Amino acid sequence: MHGPGDVLLSCARTLKDLQLDYLDLYLIHWPFPNFHPPGCAVDSRSPDAKPYIHADFMRTWRQMERMVRMGLVRHIGTSNVTIPKLKLILRDVEIKPACNEMELHPHFQQSELFKYVVENGITPIGYSPLGSPNRPERDRTPEDTSDLDDSVVAGIARRLGIHPAAACLKWGVQRGNVVIPFSTKRRNILDNLRCVTGKPLSAGDMKALSGIDRNCRLIKGQVFLWKEGQSWEDLWDVNGEITPA
Ligand SMILES: NC(=O)c1ccc[n+]([C@@H]2O[C@H](COP(=O)([O-])OP(=O)(O)OC[C@H]3O[C@@H](n4cnc5c(N)ncnc54)[C@H](OP(=O)(O)O)[C@@H]3O)[C@@H](O)[C@H]2O)c1
Repeated sequence: MHGPGDVLLSCARTLKDLQLDYLDLYLIHWPFPNFHPPGCAVDSRSPDAKPYIHADFMRTWRQMERMVRMGLVRHIGTSNVTIPKLKLILRDVEIKPACNEMELHPHFQQSELFKYVVENGITPIGYSPLGSPNRPERDRTPEDTSDLDDSVVAGIARRLGIHPAAACLKWGVQRGNVVIPFSTKRRNILDNLRCVTGKPLSAGDMKALSGIDRNCRLIKGQVFLWKEGQSWEDLWDVNGEITPA
């Protein structure tokens, strides 16, 4: 979908598949165009892998803007971008991202990026809001921590008589982001919807949850690495500037 003319093709196909006339929100999933087959191993690398190239990203963004002008899409957004990338993107867009999808759960709060996104009038969407407890083995590392087993999360849940998942979702929504929990079970889907319309967490519980950040990124994106000898941190511009090619 990052090639010339590809966004219209992808979008038209999605509309046909969903039998819709327009989409409310359409995102660029990753800022890297690299193809990898679904379900591939974590050490799989694409021979066509490329770093973030701003001019290439903007060519794709121009096509996203065209989808809005054509009435096929109401809003467009980014996902898995960093502050240095967003700064360039916001400098050059004609239509601003309405939303930015980013990993957000109590053990990975991304406070700096969260603040930057909100201050720029972009709605943060938090993915893996429960800490993706059932993610495949390939997406796990020994350092990963578990939000649902955290003693603060579990303690609040126990006291309020709710599931630890509900404590994580309430925290996200009250902090000011959209939460998109995934579930295969009707009961969990209903609980997840109900909990964010029920009684909010107290200021004290919100403060306690804001204190358990472990900077634990779960979706590291290894398959997007573009050259030998890199580590996944290179995808996330941890030094405050876009990692050089
Ligand atoms: N933009 C991106 O790059 C990106 C990356 C990752 C994920 N995402 C999106 O974010 C969404 C959620 O992320 P995720 O699936 O990684 O993680 P998640 O929503 O944090 O966790 C989902 C898991 O939690 C369980 N669960 C859900 N509700 C529960 C409840 N009330 N009680 C107990 N367990 C519960 C589910 O199991 P059951 O099925 O058994 O309920 C499911 O396996 C996905 O749909 C995906 O589209 C986007």
